Amino acid sequence: MAGDQKGPDYVTSFGKYRSQTTETTSALIRSVLRYVPTSPGARVIDIGCGTGRYALLLVSATEAQVFATDLSRAMVDKSREKDNGQDVSWFLSDACRMPFAGESFDVAFLFLVLHVVKDSKTALQEAYRILRPGGYCLILTHSRTQLDRQTVFRYFPEARKLNKRRMLSLTKLKELVREIGFHHLRTEEFVEATACSREAFLEKVRSRPNTSLRLMSDADFQRRYEALEAAVAGQEECTEESSITLLVARK
Ligand SMILES: C[S@@+](CC[C@H](N)C(=O)[O-])C[C@H]1O[C@@H](n2cnc3c(N)ncnc32)[C@H](O)[C@@H]1O
Repeated sequence: MAGDQKGPDYVTSFGKYRSQTTETTSALIRSVLRYVPTSPGARVIDIGCGTGRYALLLVSATEAQVFATDLSRAMVDKSREKDNGQDVSWFLSDACRMPFAGESFDVAFLFLVLHVVKDSKTALQEAYRILRPGGYCLILTHSRTQLDRQTVFRYFPEARKLNKRRMLSLTKLKELVREIGFHHLRTEEFVEATACSREAFLEKVRSRPNTSLRLMSDADFQRRYEALEAAVAGQEECTEESSITLLVARK
């Protein structure tokens, strides 16, 4: 499976290090909740759920039935393990061909996933198909400017370049989303800066928690890592800046 090809420890690294600050996560979930109906029987799906961080938060914050899918068996297994009876329905499935009836969901998340699927247009068309009229598609992504500002990518330009190649610019993404039939687009930006000890920061980078860092050659990665280590030598703490955009579109 595509998601499993990045090494057996990717799930662990992703689960451990791809976290946001509590403030950012709370702000994001508050925004997301505006689009989740409070009526009984509302259905939400998290497509490309990874280790299930958003699906699990959502199921504890709403009455909605929460479904979550991922192409990687290891990700789905990890999510199920974390679920601990919270009742998310987990599925192993491809975002481009989902085993759900048309118009069967009120909200669909595509969080940091369109850049890793084979065909982002098909994935968006699938999201459109399974949403009821008036339902919301919530897409989490990075703009070009956000990729430029992200601390880790300043030290690993090859990874940033790769992300710029595979992540649609916000303008192109909005065009595509409109072409598929969505309307009433709006965006919201979440900005954060987190500080941790130099050793914790370097340990995180060494685990290569982003697919773009994993897709770099080992030689390039090592060279850039050594430069980073030299740049932060002598610092007690490292501050990491990152920002992200939520694009909301209505069917
Ligand atoms: C960067 S992670 C984001 C995970 C989660 N949405 C989050 O933000 O925490 C991308 C996820 O997309 C999954 N993925 C890749 N291709 C996929 C596809 N065709 N269908 C469904 N999931 C896919 C990967 O296995 C991975 O878990």
